[in-house]
Amino acid sequence: MAATAAKGFGATCPSLSTCYFLFVVFVVSTIFHCHRRLALVPAPWAYSAQVVLVPRHHPQEGMFTINSKGRLGNQMGQYATLYALAKMNGRPAYIPAQIHSTLAPIFRITLPVLHSATARGIPWRNYHLNDWMEEQYRHIPGRYVRLTGYPCSWTFYHHLRQEILQEFSLHEHVREEAQKFLQALQATQAWRVTFVGVHVRRGDYIRVMPRVWKGVLADRGYLQQALDWFRARYRSPVFVVTSDDMAWCRESIDSSLGDVVFAGNGLQGSPAKDFALLTQCNHSIITVGTFGIWAAYLTGGDTVYLANFTLPNSPFHMVFKPQAAFLPEWVGIAADLRQAQQNRV
Ligand SMILES: *[C@@H]1O[C@H](CO)[C@@H](O)[C@H](O)[C@H]1NC(C)=O
Ligand SMILES: *[C@@H]1O[C@H](CO)[C@@H](O)[C@H](O)[C@H]1NC(C)=O
Repeated sequence: MAATAAKGFGATCPSLSTCYFLFVVFVVSTIFHCHRRLALVPAPWAYSAQVVLVPRHHPQEGMFTINSKGRLGNQMGQYATLYALAKMNGRPAYIPAQIHSTLAPIFRITLPVLHSATARGIPWRNYHLNDWMEEQYRHIPGRYVRLTGYPCSWTFYHHLRQEILQEFSLHEHVREEAQKFLQALQATQAWRVTFVGVHVRRGDYIRVMPRVWKGVLADRGYLQQALDWFRARYRSPVFVVTSDDMAWCRESIDSSLGDVVFAGNGLQGSPAKDFALLTQCNHSIITVGTFGIWAAYLTGGDTVYLANFTLPNSPFHMVFKPQAAFLPEWVGIAADLRQAQQNRV
């Protein structure tokens, strides 16, 4: 089409060289725009974001990015930490394409995406983060900094809570689906109910927790206590249970009072539905893992969490500070460590 347009144009054109010049401009700009359009949409296609295109044009003021590791909860931690630390250091933040493809289908995130081809050409300086804020992170040296680690701690970003909540606000269709589910539950009740989202993380932790971290997962006793905590405080609680192990939940959570709904789809590959459901509830019960911590942080209601779930000699204490992971107002229920003690002998 470009060629025909240029030919017709050439027939009436006074100067051939001007025409060739215009033709070249037209072709180049078409190619540029096509390229830009394609580059604009890393997977999934529906959610575009700004992408840095030209590898030689790194922003002069430098830039911050972060490694992308783990699943949804970890990547939310990486996103929020990058957001906060880049701001603190006065540098623009760019997320890697993998973080964008994990988070963008669910949340209305705004940070621009760094195309992986561009990222490869940048002389990054890696900077390791602990899972809690440190004073020196306010002055991170280097122009092109790639943060590394598994940060997921409110100590990095709680002062920006409103902005973080905005970044992680759900897309309307995701929110609506969760709301429909809860409204249908409400419709079956005579009283106005209080929704308590329950997240039971098991999966790979069944193996990793005892072997690597010398700890335990949430058991029946913990869940019973956590549910009772809410039953004692709210007139008509409804517990909405999500998990990567729904079969275990059905067996282990006492639903005889009729206030427990097993809602999760249990698919680790599509966590969006479970996550949205949890955040649309009024309060939270969480077990282990960053997925639950984020769900509770965004929900912003009362939160009951599993506390002290590793033995005192666990290597977990080197990488995890409970007071940096759980907000001070959250309510901890201590885990029953007998199982972990038995594993030791
Ligand atoms: C509790 O959550 C439901 C569902 O999101 C919502 O409709 C209701 O307004 C919330 N209640 C309170 C007191 O915030
Ligand atoms: C967890 O252990 C710490 C240190 O021993 C203790 O101060 C805290 O009260 C415990 N938390 C709970 C919820 O039992």
